[in-house]
Amino acid sequence: MISAADGREARHVAMMEIRGFLDALVTKAEADPEDNLLGRLIGTGRLSHDEIVGVMFLLLVAGHETTANMIPLAALTLVRHPAQLAALRADPDLWPMAVDELLRYHSIADWVAFDRVATEDQDIGGQLVRKGEGIFVLGASANRDDRAFERPDEFDIGRSARHHVAFSYGVHQCLGQNLARAELEIALRTLFERLPGLRVAVADEDVPVKHESPIFGLTALPVRGDPRQRTEGVHHLFMMNL
Ligand code: HEM
Repeated sequence: MISAADGREARHVAMMEIRGFLDALVTKAEADPEDNLLGRLIGTGRLSHDEIVGVMFLLLVAGHETTANMIPLAALTLVRHPAQLAALRADPDLWPMAVDELLRYHSIADWVAFDRVATEDQDIGGQLVRKGEGIFVLGASANRDDRAFERPDEFDIGRSARHHVAFSYGVHQCLGQNLARAELEIALRTLFERLPGLRVAVADEDVPVKHESPIFGLTALPVRGDPRQRTEGVHHLFMMNL
């Protein structure tokens, strides 16, 4: 649905299919609500059917596509920085800082999200933006600004990167950001605890990258396990991301 590789028409068809799927899911839950997020949203009695479908759609795209893309990218980055991975193993309290640095470093959702329309004339950095005009902010550029971060192109879990804008800024900044931080910490910590011998099976230039998607990520991360843990051989741990 969000891949530019397949063209507008295919994206529209995919979007309608997902909406149809969610519509049927909500209809089923309305008839027989369970004790889960969907059931509880219906139970409030405050949202129409279409609004609930909309919420589900937003959660799927904003909540899944982002974290699912961050996990393999972050795993790759940590494997490629073994000293920092070792530091995280030695001191798990470093994980929250590491997660924010990973978010800053990759800025995976920057250009899909930072579009705004001026509600009145504004001076932004000496440039007049008139009421009604739109702007696109490059979040990834702000996250690599050397006035905000020393040595911005270096990956360094020791820096305090919490003021990054990977979740955007202002009233519409990511609603799920603390859930996302928790998901990333839990997923990555568990991965490296369970598979301490995890290695990437291909060179950096052979890691398949999603250039055609507005949310950056990998299509797969081929990894090798640890023979002592009976996980040897090449696996595609993140094929679910396709
Ligand atoms: C690595 C993970 C994530 C990243 C990088 C990310 C990034 C972003 C960005 C850049 C925006 C745009 C804000 C704007 O327009 O200024 C956004 C909005 C949003 N995100 Fe996330 N997000 C992530 C995970 C999540 C999760 C896990 C959820 C919920 C389950 C979520 C829910 C939302 C919602 C509801 C919005 C819309 C907020 C609004 O328009 O007021 N996000 N996110």
